[in-house]
Amino acid sequence: MCGIIGVLGNHEVAPLLVESLKRLEYRGYDSAGIATVNEGRLDRRRAVGKLVNLSDLLVHEPLAGKAGIGHTRWATHGAATTVNAHPHRSGPVAVVHNGIIENFRELRAELARAGIAPETQTDTETVALMTRLFIDRGLSVREAAVATLQKLEGAFALLWLFEGEDDLMIAARKGSPLAIGHGEGEMFVGSDAIALSPFTDRITYLAEGDYAFVSRAGVEIFDAGGRRANRDETRIDLSSTRVEKAGYKHFMAKEIAEQPVVLGDALRHYLRPEGVNLPAELDFSGLERLTLVACGTAFYACSVAKYWFEQLAGLPCEIDVASEFRYREPPLPAKSYAVFVSQSGETADTLAALRYCTEKVQKTIAVVNVPTSSIAREADLALPILAGVEVGVASTKAFTCQLLALAVMALKAGIDRGHLSPDQLAGHLETLRALPGLMNAALSTSDEIAKLAGQLAEAQDILFLGRGPMYPLALEGALKLKEISYIHAEGYASGELKHGPIALIDRMVPVIVLAPHDRLFDKTVSNMQEVMARHGKVLLITDGKGIATAAEGTWASLRLPEVAEPFAPILYALPAQLLAYHTAIAKGTDVDQPRNLAKSVTVE
Ligand code: F6R
Repeated sequence: MCGIIGVLGNHEVAPLLVESLKRLEYRGYDSAGIATVNEGRLDRRRAVGKLVNLSDLLVHEPLAGKAGIGHTRWATHGAATTVNAHPHRSGPVAVVHNGIIENFRELRAELARAGIAPETQTDTETVALMTRLFIDRGLSVREAAVATLQKLEGAFALLWLFEGEDDLMIAARKGSPLAIGHGEGEMFVGSDAIALSPFTDRITYLAEGDYAFVSRAGVEIFDAGGRRANRDETRIDLSSTRVEKAGYKHFMAKEIAEQPVVLGDALRHYLRPEGVNLPAELDFSGLERLTLVACGTAFYACSVAKYWFEQLAGLPCEIDVASEFRYREPPLPAKSYAVFVSQSGETADTLAALRYCTEKVQKTIAVVNVPTSSIAREADLALPILAGVEVGVASTKAFTCQLLALAVMALKAGIDRGHLSPDQLAGHLETLRALPGLMNAALSTSDEIAKLAGQLAEAQDILFLGRGPMYPLALEGALKLKEISYIHAEGYASGELKHGPIALIDRMVPVIVLAPHDRLFDKTVSNMQEVMARHGKVLLITDGKGIATAAEGTWASLRLPEVAEPFAPILYALPAQLLAYHTAIAKGTDVDQPRNLAKSVTVE
């Protein structure tokens, strides 16, 4: 993970680097650092923890210079200490890095043979040491960086700055994204468009294996074979990179509250009066199978969608987490599509899974929030989820917008395959169109949820139960809760409880049952009764009919509006998110930047 920024400017760069790092903090916040060149002199400042610590340090120990690089870290190799913080420096070389240098042990051994010992526990430091070694052996800084690059294995985005070089940054990309920003007599390098958005809307994405020499006059790009390469310059929509809390205490609260609006936008994009609006090339009619691949919350969106593709379209559907999929070498039928769901569009495992499917000549479809992301650019077809920038590390609005995009795809599959009648389609479209209004009603349970959260915050373990498409939502509810409240939580298919997990139930274990009054409701309620018979503390989340039938004897119940099958998970996601949010508030954790996590997981 980690975020990278570099600026060759006409003014002092330290404040610009910090401003950009603020936008990159979603990639990690274990430490932050900057290095500048000032009248030829290279210097750096680094601080452990959030960016604010670096900003404080810079007040007392400012750093002058009009050329600089910066980094925000999510630790992979070596603890979050100042010594391990980037930029890493060796003599005239400073370097920041996102990714993993897989052969750093071999490189260390080679450096040791040259009498050079590491001072940090990081893999990145070997890049600085190796570059310096080449410079000491007589190579120019450009030659030294390229010679170092040729030795590196793994996935990385790298940016070098050199003592004595006020007008040069060297950037390289393999596996991790990196973009060049064009200004007027100024140039920038950043991990993504969000990092560059304070400075420019003109961006060139480096392609896989590219490296670039950047000066204020422009950029020279070379491909992996060292040949000059032309890469297109694109203009990004800066409004899509705006990040504000808009009066909310946390980004997560804002993003939960935004869902009726962003879902409404997505509905306007994807629905026509009589049907769905998807590219004609997306034709599910002759498919034998659909493969859905993602990580984390996005994987749970795929898991819900599996029910939809199978039930609405009769389309066999395989789902897998990307980190497993990419290495298990799954055989893929010729007549199948592979769908990759990712908020960031940069998740390393999902990107690798996409590349595997491209190699196997599958048609690849990206369902992404960031249209300029690597996954969006590498897939045959990219469908936007239109959630807007999501800053909170715990994904909320991206999840419901992913679900919507997948629901629309499942409806198209149903039509293409003759599995849905026009009347059935009309009914499902009506259900989807009603969702923003229902979501507003679901959000009004927030205060009630906040009251329950006080007690949930005292639990050691919490279980979530659901059936059918509500089962993956139970998994998502548990993930959301554990990642921001640090309470151990698990989701189970309610029918599975008696096959083991019921042993956990006692008075101390809250069990959250996600159960709209649908055709599976009675089955779920039977499982809930089994919990209550063992003194489990049940919170039933259901609709009016469900409350009337089954709320008696529960610890608490929450009433949501009725929503027709099978799209209830899109609505029930909201109370699950609010439960996690309010429980985290009650526990006093850092809701937007929970410990050990980062928003964009660009390492495997
Ligand atoms: C959890 C969460 C993560 C992400 C996962 C995939 O709240 O946000 O589990 O869903 O890291 O990220 P993307 O969707 O960017 O590929």
